[in-house]
Amino acid sequence: MTVESVRPEAHPRVASELREPPLAGGGIPLLGHGWKLARDPLAFMAGLRAHGDVVRLKLGPKTVYAVTTPDLTGALALSPDFKIDGPLWESLEGLLGKEGVATANGPRHRRQRRTIQPAFRLDAIPAYGPIMEEEAHALTERWQPGETVDCTSESFRIAVRIAARCLLRGDYMDERAERLCNALATVFRGMYRRMVIPLGPLYKLPLPANREFNRALADLHLLVDEIVAERRATGQRPDDLLTALLEAKDENGDPIGEQEIHDQVVAIVTPGSETVASTIMWLLHVLAEHPEHADRVCAEVESVTGGRPVAFQDVRSLRHTNNVVVEAMRLRPAVWILTRRAVTDTSLGGYRIPAGADIIYSPYAIQRDAKSYADNLEFDPDRWLPERVGDVPKYAMSPFSVGNRKCPSDHFSMAQLTLITAALSTKYRFEQVPGSNDATRVGITLRPQKLLLRPVPRN
Ligand code: HEM
Repeated sequence: MTVESVRPEAHPRVASELREPPLAGGGIPLLGHGWKLARDPLAFMAGLRAHGDVVRLKLGPKTVYAVTTPDLTGALALSPDFKIDGPLWESLEGLLGKEGVATANGPRHRRQRRTIQPAFRLDAIPAYGPIMEEEAHALTERWQPGETVDCTSESFRIAVRIAARCLLRGDYMDERAERLCNALATVFRGMYRRMVIPLGPLYKLPLPANREFNRALADLHLLVDEIVAERRATGQRPDDLLTALLEAKDENGDPIGEQEIHDQVVAIVTPGSETVASTIMWLLHVLAEHPEHADRVCAEVESVTGGRPVAFQDVRSLRHTNNVVVEAMRLRPAVWILTRRAVTDTSLGGYRIPAGADIIYSPYAIQRDAKSYADNLEFDPDRWLPERVGDVPKYAMSPFSVGNRKCPSDHFSMAQLTLITAALSTKYRFEQVPGSNDATRVGITLRPQKLLLRPVPRN
């Protein structure tokens, strides 16, 4: 999964040659395609390529453009003609704040990336190795053979603990991980509803669901204030992301404001825990549903470690384990939908895109497309072997996106996901238990509805 630096042309033709993208079929008066998107968003997004490379959708009165081919999603992500905005980001701003890196654009975004980037650079990751190792092994110790594991809370717990311990150097994160997990679950559910069914003022009514949403949002922000206040109270300046944020300067060389510090911590902790937790849930699902690959992972780990506990430095030798993680992310990308807004009149693939237009695309649809992958719905980690990886079209596998908004945490995430998968597979086989529901739950991320597993010791 490498990111190419070649920039596909976003607007290669003169304006008079540009065409209007076709309107996707299946819209109904007034609601347009909104009802289909709300009812079965994954199937809807996956079906759009049949209508064209770029298609127009009607969401109520609004026209939205959907990009359906790998090369055009690459062009979109790499072109300066589009910025972060649109329904997903407007909806997320209520959660992430307006001043964090995930929603900023232009010079502010570049400055913020410069502040956070050092903590995620490839050469910074080994320093996090001991914490990732400790957390991965602690998870296997915590689970008792035969007991039922609630994968949602356990995946959140480890994702939050690793992010908090590595990047914010916070101790005793269990209570906070649980609060964060509960708050995020409610907030993300509410955000997704507000994005898909934009009922505006109705979300302000004092209804139980709205009150629950507001409580969860308030707790999320309180948690972040607690983390920042605690660090300030210690007077310590460890070499971590939180110190970098507390000491960051703005474009004029002045310290950044309290609101920006707060929003930055929210913008890093929330996407970091939700995406990693969802991916761990799908990895656990894969280990239960594909025991043959769980056995191969176990055999690979043992051949590398000779039976000692798997360590961070082993990660780069665990090729099959890494391929299992990549293939799980192909079929169930945590981030399944992304949006952009055109900042100028421009084009994609010869189609006219007017300034101000919202564009959406789905990594889920792109990564499952039969035009890009043989046996597209098969779980086949070996498709990532060096001799086969060349069959995958460019930008057909970009779960961390590409370009200037690419996830800063790709190395950090891949290292922990591979290590956790290795540690779990060497100790246990997994079985789903009655009451488990592994249907895909669509929200701002994708995760199983309620995955319940029983760990069975290998020896
Ligand atoms: C499996 C794990 C993860 C996946 C699949 C993932 C995916 C993504 C994607 C697709 C984007 C780009 C969004 C866009 O193009 O509009 C993104 C951005 C971002 N991610 Fe991740 N992410 C993961 C883990 C993390 C973690 C662990 C952190 C932090 C601890 C993190 C922090 C961020 C931030 C701050 C951005 C915004 C970057 C910017 O706009 O410049 N992510 N992520």
